[in-house]
Amino acid sequence: MMDAALDKTLRDAAALFRRSRYAVALTGAGLSAESGIPTYRGTGGVWTRFGEPTIDGWDLFCQDPEAWWKLSIEHRVGGSEFSAAIDRAVPNAAHYAMAELEQMGRLAHVITQNIDNLQNVAGSRHVTEIHGNRAKARCMSCGLRYRLESIDLATLPPHCAECGGVLKNDVVMFGEPIPADALEECYRQAFRADLFLVVGTSAVVYPAAEFPLMAKRRGAPLIEINPEETALSDLADVIIRGPAAVTVPALVELLLIP
Ligand code: OAD
Repeated sequence: MMDAALDKTLRDAAALFRRSRYAVALTGAGLSAESGIPTYRGTGGVWTRFGEPTIDGWDLFCQDPEAWWKLSIEHRVGGSEFSAAIDRAVPNAAHYAMAELEQMGRLAHVITQNIDNLQNVAGSRHVTEIHGNRAKARCMSCGLRYRLESIDLATLPPHCAECGGVLKNDVVMFGEPIPADALEECYRQAFRADLFLVVGTSAVVYPAAEFPLMAKRRGAPLIEINPEETALSDLADVIIRGPAAVTVPALVELLLIP
C-alpha cells in the first residue's frame, strides 16, 4: 500500500508522461540496488565502505596495456565483492518497468551510468551506456565494441579484428575520456527530451549529471525517483521518494490505465 504523498507524486509523474512526446531517462546505481549490486556512494555504497578506487588505472592502461589486462584478468578470476555481485545479478522490477515504459511508447531513450548490462537484459532497446558495459571490450582506435567472451585473450593485449587497434574493457575508467559515440548520443537525446526522468543516481558525476540540467534549461520537466535527496532534487518538478523497484512499476501501472 502506497502512502498518500507517494501516490500523489506518482500520479503527477504519470500526468507529465501523458503529455510528453519524447521522454528520456538518466539512470544510476540505485536502479540496480535491488538486484543486490551495491551503490557507489551513500549508505552501504562500495566507496563509502572501502574508499574510492585509485585513479591510476587509465594511466597504467596507457603506459602498459599488457600489464593492465593481466591485472584485470587476475582480478576477475579472484573476484571483488562488487564484481561478484554484478556477476550474480539479474534484473529487478525497476529494470523491467523501464523496458515496459519504452515498449509502451512512453520512454524514448535511456542514458545509463550503469555498467551492469541489466537494462539490456530486461529488454530496453534504446540505451546509451555512458560509462560503458562490463561485459564488453572496446577498440581504443576505432571504437568498435566486442562481447568480452568473444575476444581471444591468448595474446595480451587483445587487438581489434577490424582495425588492429588495442582493445580495453569497455568500462570507462577515471581519467579516461567518455567514448565520443556515447557522448554524442547523450547530448542528442538531452537536446530532444521534452520530459526527463532521473532514477537512482546521486547526480554528482559529470558529464552524466549535465543531461537532465540541459533538458530542464530547454523547458523539459524533471522527475526524480530516489529514496534520498540528490544534487538534482531542488530542480525537480516531481520527486518520487521511494525505491525504484516499487515506484517505477507503480508508474507503469498508472500509465496502463487509459
Ligand atoms: P551513486 O552511488 O553515486 O548514487 C546512487 C543513488 O542511488 C543514490 O542517490 C541513492 O540514494 C540511490 N538509491 C539507493 N537505493 C535506491 C533504490 N532502491 N532505488 C532508487 N534509488 C536508490 O551512483 P551513481 O549516481 O550511479 O562511474 O554514480 C555515478 C557514477 O559514479 C557511476 O556510474 C560510477 C561512479 O564514478 C564509473 O564507475 C565510471
